[in-house]
Amino acid sequence: MGCVKVEDGSALSRGDCRAKGGAPGFKVAIVGAAGGIGQPLAMLMKMNPLVSVLHLYDVVNAPGVTADISHMDTGAVVRGFLGQPQLESALTGIDLVIIPAGVPRKPGMTRDDLFKINAGIAIVNLISNPVNSTVPIAAEVFKKAGTYDPKRLLGVTTLDVVRANTFVVSTSQTSLEVDVPVVGGHAGVTILPLLSQVKPPCSFTKEETEYLTNRIQNGGTEVVEAKAGAGSATLSMAYAAVKFADACLRGLRGDAGVIECAFVASEVLCSSLIGVNVVLKPSSELLVRLGRGGAEEIYQLGPLNEYERVGLEKAKMELAASIQKGVSFIKK
Ligand code: NAD
Ligand code: LMR
Repeated sequence: MGCVKVEDGSALSRGDCRAKGGAPGFKVAIVGAAGGIGQPLAMLMKMNPLVSVLHLYDVVNAPGVTADISHMDTGAVVRGFLGQPQLESALTGIDLVIIPAGVPRKPGMTRDDLFKINAGIAIVNLISNPVNSTVPIAAEVFKKAGTYDPKRLLGVTTLDVVRANTFVVSTSQTSLEVDVPVVGGHAGVTILPLLSQVKPPCSFTKEETEYLTNRIQNGGTEVVEAKAGAGSATLSMAYAAVKFADACLRGLRGDAGVIECAFVASEVLCSSLIGVNVVLKPSSELLVRLGRGGAEEIYQLGPLNEYERVGLEKAKMELAASIQKGVSFIKK
């Protein structure tokens, strides 16, 4: 478990980074903006008052999506970018890059089956699967370029938290909103919900704990099977991506104590990349060192029960293999 503090002084001071009405806004780029996740994500980011400029990049259909989204009467200025020659322009001066580029899985495939297809396009990976390997790949790419900052590379696992919250509320039949910490990675047993740490506190029977853990770990497969070959989660993922992006932007703005789960580099559980909880809040150190946002603080895992301790060991083993797979891929 870890925590990230996102800090940015520079973005706030940029003269052209103002949302409608003169409020400070941020420049956001979506890479893979014409896809199943990318399109609703672009729509939701166009509605976000923290966004003043929205760059939509894809290798196909970017102009159409851009024309469509640009007719929305919200503040952000939308610009489209098509194909590799325009990638650099799409990313120049951007505060936050969200990447849902890549191929989704079909029934019968694991996220790891996407490795060969998606590994080659991961540059700064946030959403593209398999997250457990694409984040380490992106880390290695940055290292090669001499620009790696583990605080700026965040794998998006918010959908696991969103699902966990939904399933816990329906199982415990409470009308209260809950907050379920989910640590580890983003595939199967590496997704580790800490049901003993739900806020407000909930108690579950052994059967409920097993049911919930299993359903949260297999939420993605549930959607893949229901879509029967037409892709994986896109709408709930766009919702989750916006939830996480908004937290990042609030952190960039300087809000204190913004806490989210994400897959970031951490030594809390092992000396390599592992899923963690993330705090996004201001930091003068980062302001001085980076001038832009980053993951700042990593929380220790709270007290685990026996069921979670066993789950954690399984998660660590599988994560270590997925991380190694990503690192070896890029080193070849
Ligand atoms: P999709 O096929 O509908 O869309 C992918 C988009 O990426 C397409 O528009 C495609 O043109 C674009 N793309 C492909 N290569 C690109 C490149 N080199 N540069 C820029 N754009 C490129 O797929 P989707 O359903 O939107 O899913 C996208 C990815 O997100 C998949 O890998 C999927 O497994 C993953 N995903 C992750 C989570 C998560 O929780 N992290 C949840 C759901 C889906
Ligand atoms: C999800 O959790 O829905 C995504 O990772 C997509 C998938 O392949 O399951």
